[in-house]
Parts: sequence; C-alpha cells; structure tokens
Amino acid sequence: MHTCGLETDRDSMEANEKTKSLETVRTDQDRWIADLEQRLVQCERLAAVGELTSTTTHEFNNILMTILNYAKLGLRHKDDSTREKALTRILDAANRGAKITSLVLGLSRTGSGNFDPIDLVAIVEDSLVLLEKELQKYRIHVEKELSGVPVIQGSAGSLQRLLLNLITNARQAIKENGTIRIIVKHEPKTDSVVLTVRDNGSGIPKEVLPKIFDRFFTTKSGPDASGKGGTGLGLSACKQIIDDHRGRIRVESTVGKGTAFSIRFPVASASQATPAA
Ligand SMILES: Nc1ncnc2c1ncn2[C@@H]1O[C@H](COP(=O)(O)OP(=O)(O)OP(=O)(O)O)[C@@H](O)[C@H]1O
Ligand SMILES: [Mg+2]
Repeated sequence: MHTCGLETDRDSMEANEKTKSLETVRTDQDRWIADLEQRLVQCERLAAVGELTSTTTHEFNNILMTILNYAKLGLRHKDDSTREKALTRILDAANRGAKITSLVLGLSRTGSGNFDPIDLVAIVEDSLVLLEKELQKYRIHVEKELSGVPVIQGSAGSLQRLLLNLITNARQAIKENGTIRIIVKHEPKTDSVVLTVRDNGSGIPKEVLPKIFDRFFTTKSGPDASGKGGTGLGLSACKQIIDDHRGRIRVESTVGKGTAFSIRFPVASASQATPAA
C-alpha cells in the first residue's frame, strides 16, 4: 500500500514534471511566435518603405527637372519678374522635396513608436502628397471631405501606413479612371473620429470578403506597374494598426460599384490631447 502510495506520488511527480516541461515548450513556442510576428510587422514596414522608394524616386526626378529648368530660365532672363517667378518655382519644388523626404523618414522609423496626439486630417494630406503622382498616372480623381476633427491618440508613422495601404488598394481596384473619396469627420455620439476611404472600383465578391484581412490573402497576381500589390499583407497590417489604436473597421462593398473602408478611432482624452510641455 505504502509502495503503491509512493509510486502514485512518483507518478504524480512525473506527471507534474511532464506538465511543467510541456508548459516550458508552450512558453518557448509562444515566445517564438511572438518573435516571428514582431519580425513580420518589421518586414511589412520595410516593404512599405521599399514600395514608396520607387514612387518617390520618380517624384524626385520630377522635382529635380523643375528645379533645373527654372534655374536655367532664371539665368537666361535678367528681368526681375522672370527671375522672381523662377525662384518661387524652385522654392516650391524644393519644399515639396523636403516634405517627401521627411514623410519617408517618418515611415521608416522602427517600432510602432510612441503614441502622440494626432490630427488625422494632416495624415490624410501627407499621404496624398506621397501618392499624388501615382494617382495622376492612373487618372484617379481624389475628392476630400476633411472637416476639423479632435485629435486621436496614435502613432503618426503607423497611421500613415494605414492610409497608404487603403488608398493603394482603392487605386488598384479602380485600375484607371475613377474616384477615391476620403472623408474624415467627428462623430459626437460615439466621440470618435471616422475615416472613410471609398472607391468606385471593382468591389469585393461576397465569398472573398471574409478573407481580406487574412495574412497573405491576395487576389492580385503580383506587383503592378508601380511595383505595388500582391503580397496580401496590406490589410492584415491595417487591422493590426487599427487594433493598436483601439479602433474598429467596417467594410461595405458592391461588386461593380466599389468599396468603402470606414475606421472609427476614439477621440483622445483631455489629458492625452495636451502634449507634455
Ligand atoms: N478597395 C478594394 N477594392 C477591391 N478589393 C479590395 C480592396 N481592398 C482590398 N481588396 C481585396 O483584398 C485583398 C487583400 O488586400 P491586401 O491589401 O491585404 O493585399 P494586396 O493588396 O493583395 O497585397 P499587398 O500586400 O501588396 O497590399 C486584395 O487582394 C483584394 O482582393
Ligand atoms: Mg494592398
């Protein structure tokens, strides 16, 4: 009996050991998965920067051409008014270049970063600066309805990536000649800021809709002529960013008519909205 008891104790000790080692394996696996997820987020961020590099290189070429042509014009003409016009154009082009550089640098900063009070309207305007030439190339008209909104608590770099992904998807769904409508408004009832990106592109079939936020789900055969699309990581990254910001996303789509992504962010509380002195 005694022996039996001892054996039972040993059994339960062995079982405990097993459970412990199983728990250790599970913790190791959890850590490993968390580490991989972290790396994937990092890769998504770098891929977004890589895609932007091709867009911005073209844009910089346009800026340099403008600067070169107006510098030549200013040197050829000695009169004040032509020189003033040339210098103003050069200054505008250089300012645009500086703006693009700072946006790309902001996007490539690692870590989802600190959360700060963010004006979503400014993020929309910045995203459109980055995508302006690309949207023109595909003859896409952008309509904006951006009212003054309260600040939200967020990461400027992540929110910028969210917008770039949504606008790029909208542009790809349209293919060519269409309209993207971007709305930012305050919804007093829920005290939230609502961002809507609506396109009149292909729409999403009912059977595809439940999968669009899955990692690696894509209906695109590969990168398009602008080097974008086809990895199926865009919307899963968007979902992560929205979750990090305690936001909610809603999709409405009709095949042949278009799609609208609406995201609701909670307004920053009074103490969050005041940046530390
Ligand atoms: N505005 C949209 N209109 C129609 N379909 C869309 C739209 N946005 C997303 N989709 C669908 O959802 C899928 C997943 O989108 P997601 O952005 O995650 O990946 P992707 O655009 O295919 O590739 P990438 O990783 O380069 O963004 C797309 O392949 C497309 O089928
Ligand atoms: Mg995409």
